[in-house]
Amino acid sequence: MHFPKQPQNNDPAIQPIGVFDSGIGGLTVVRALRELLPEEDIFYLGDTARLPYGGKDRATIERYSLEIAGLLLAENAKMIVVACNTASALALPRLQQTLRIPVVGVIVPGARAAVQQTRNGKIGILATRATVASAAYDRAIEAFEAGVEVISQACPLLVPLIEEAWLDDPVTREVLERYLNPLLAAGVDTLVLGCTHYPLLEPLIAELAGPSVALIDSAFNCAAAVRQVLEEKGLRNTHADPGTLQVALTDSFNPFLKTVEAVLRLRIDQLERRVVQGVMMLPPLTAV
Ligand code: DGL
Repeated sequence: MHFPKQPQNNDPAIQPIGVFDSGIGGLTVVRALRELLPEEDIFYLGDTARLPYGGKDRATIERYSLEIAGLLLAENAKMIVVACNTASALALPRLQQTLRIPVVGVIVPGARAAVQQTRNGKIGILATRATVASAAYDRAIEAFEAGVEVISQACPLLVPLIEEAWLDDPVTREVLERYLNPLLAAGVDTLVLGCTHYPLLEPLIAELAGPSVALIDSAFNCAAAVRQVLEEKGLRNTHADPGTLQVALTDSFNPFLKTVEAVLRLRIDQLERRVVQGVMMLPPLTAV
């Protein structure tokens, strides 16, 4: 795949951070970036035309992620944030091997925070089918601390409910109860919201899980990791002006975007539509 040549810039620190997700759930990561790095410009791409990623295989998710990365490079991104657990679980190594700019995902920061939080060594993961099947959280948690028990629950119905804005609805509540019950019965004291859409359900999840279970928002932990990388690489924008937020979606505008803007208290400066072009042939890889 040929990536567009990035426009030359004398000061890479003033280039935007490129962020992507399968949809608009990754805006939870943008909100966290806004809080931690308010002076950074952000270009966000939501691949709404091909949402959800969570039931697709590794080859497809790698291809989508590389195509989106090409769009972000064309926007002159100084680094890429994979604001999607599914793409982080399945495509991060490929992105990191292929791109010359830093690429940060959400799994390792979330796993680190969960290991730091748990007291009884039992961590629950709520995630998409593809993320659960990849066992990416299990490996990341094991690498931080051997012997921690990880109990994962695939939640394929949650992303469609969230993209429908059914954030506090009896149907969503019932579905969540079904997904949470096995984890609560297993005695987890820490629950990773292992999909960037899920922080939008945080009040409901917190209510159903009860006060003895700590929730780990992978979005916030990812933003902290981004700040660290920018500082280490000397890429942090030190201008005093507040950064801008540009959002591009690959399908026509999503009516739920307004709700997300309000719930997350985000201000989108520019909204546009982008078409993902180019079909790339990849060698067959192990399906998830
Ligand atoms: N926000 C994506 C994630 O974190 C949603 C997955 C999907 O598109 O199914 O995994």
